[in-house]
Amino acid sequence: MNFKKNILCIGAGYVGGPTMAVIAYKCPQFRVTIADINPARIAEWNSDELPLYEPGLDEIIRATRGKNLFFTTDIQRSIRDNDIIFVSVNTPTKMFGAGAGMAADLQYWEKTARQILQYSESSKIVIEKSTLPVKTAQAMENILRNAHSFTFEVLSNPEFLAEGTAIKDMENPDRVLIGSRETASGFKAREELVEIYANWIPREKIITSNIWSSELSKIVSNAFLAQRISSINAISALCEKTDADIIEVARAVGMDSRIGGKYLNSSVGFGGSCFKKDILNLVYLCRHYGLNEVADYWEGVVKINQYQQERFTLNMLTAMFNTLADKKICLFGVSFKANTSDTRESPAIFIAKKLLEEKAEIIITDPQALRNARTDLAGMEGRVSFIDDPYKAAAGCHAIAVMTEWDLYRDLDYQKIYDTMIKPASLFDGRNIIDHRRCHNIGFNVYPIGKPALTHF
Ligand code: UDX
Ligand code: UDX
Repeated sequence: MNFKKNILCIGAGYVGGPTMAVIAYKCPQFRVTIADINPARIAEWNSDELPLYEPGLDEIIRATRGKNLFFTTDIQRSIRDNDIIFVSVNTPTKMFGAGAGMAADLQYWEKTARQILQYSESSKIVIEKSTLPVKTAQAMENILRNAHSFTFEVLSNPEFLAEGTAIKDMENPDRVLIGSRETASGFKAREELVEIYANWIPREKIITSNIWSSELSKIVSNAFLAQRISSINAISALCEKTDADIIEVARAVGMDSRIGGKYLNSSVGFGGSCFKKDILNLVYLCRHYGLNEVADYWEGVVKINQYQQERFTLNMLTAMFNTLADKKICLFGVSFKANTSDTRESPAIFIAKKLLEEKAEIIITDPQALRNARTDLAGMEGRVSFIDDPYKAAAGCHAIAVMTEWDLYRDLDYQKIYDTMIKPASLFDGRNIIDHRRCHNIGFNVYPIGKPALTHF
């Protein structure tokens, strides 16, 4: 079959995979290829066991794979054969040298730019999909400028999808943002990408800007979302001291239409590969430009998130008579949020490690994320076990700590669970999803976030 466009994405991760699968699904007239250096990951994309769990993804992959969606490790050939190249390789926080712990590590990014230069045999549009520091496009252009007989136009098209709702977010986004150079060739490339998205997204939702605004908007969107969570989490600490109830406060505050009610769920802290990384990136950028007050302001969002996780662990310790040594604690959920298998920066992993330092024994249960959790906690076997069934996981434990807001944990038979636990049995609800009063009546000592504890002593 002759396809109208050949589109490539380099990086078959949580972003590249679902994003390109939806483009292929919505645009059967285009041939979409996803290339990755990791052969194991590509093999999984080509099998029935996809490398990540994302609601709705299986169906879309089934409908498109082998028809107009292809997964490959052949990056060289893919670059040669495609004119539109999305880049979605990872850009983790740099862990060495200048900017360690703050700046983005752009080594994979630069390597990919050099591969594009090396293997291209015609002009291309190269699209930044990964979150990147402002001005990365400049570096990319400087590398790609070295081609002899053809040109590259670099666009910024940040992803705004959230894991767990990635397919829905791609099918029906609040907006799509496309940034380009404000030159004739920049506008032309920008329009070509607009045309792709316009296959299923109303034009008024596809906004365009200069390339630096686009790069910055992505980081700022994540910083604002994270800031709301840190704001409500900061207030949850005050609620616990004052007998106010964070859920009531969030509802009252969120009903002000100027504020809005989303992202006001107090929790054990935000996780995920983006929020912390992107804010630290913003902080680094501000410091680079000498804007220390601005940097301090945003750094506070990350500090409060850290504080919330430490506070949660400390509350557990205090509630359990100041010693966790040899106590069995069951973690309900290990993914950083519901409906994903992703455990990157998950508060559950941080808390598991803290509890292990206190010499507790940990039993982790989760419907999708145990495989990743095993890798994250490798080397700690003996003190950590992984059990699929939450009833079996909680049996014989002194405490349960709800880490992830999976619906599954709302509806369990807590009487049955209580009966199998060591008494006094404690329930720490890091997501406020359990019926606290009911569990208290069953016999649990219940410790929610941002609400008075319900105890029997
Ligand atoms: C990552 C970042 O976390 C996110 O901030 C950014 O916006 C997009 O990239 P994600 O898709 O979640 O998002 O990362 P990950 O699941 O790690 O996938 C990246 C993929 O790129 C991996 O499969 C990796 O093998 C691949 N890769 C990495 C390459 O193909 N080439 C490289 O040189 C480096
Ligand atoms: C985020 C952004 O939402 C998305 O636009 C961007 O492209 C990538 O980063 P993601 O990290 O996948 O997406 O999930 P998100 O739903 O934003 O949740 C992030 C973290 O915040 C999770 O740990 C979640 O549990 C937590 N959270 C979210 C809260 O603690 N309270 C809330 O009210 C909302």
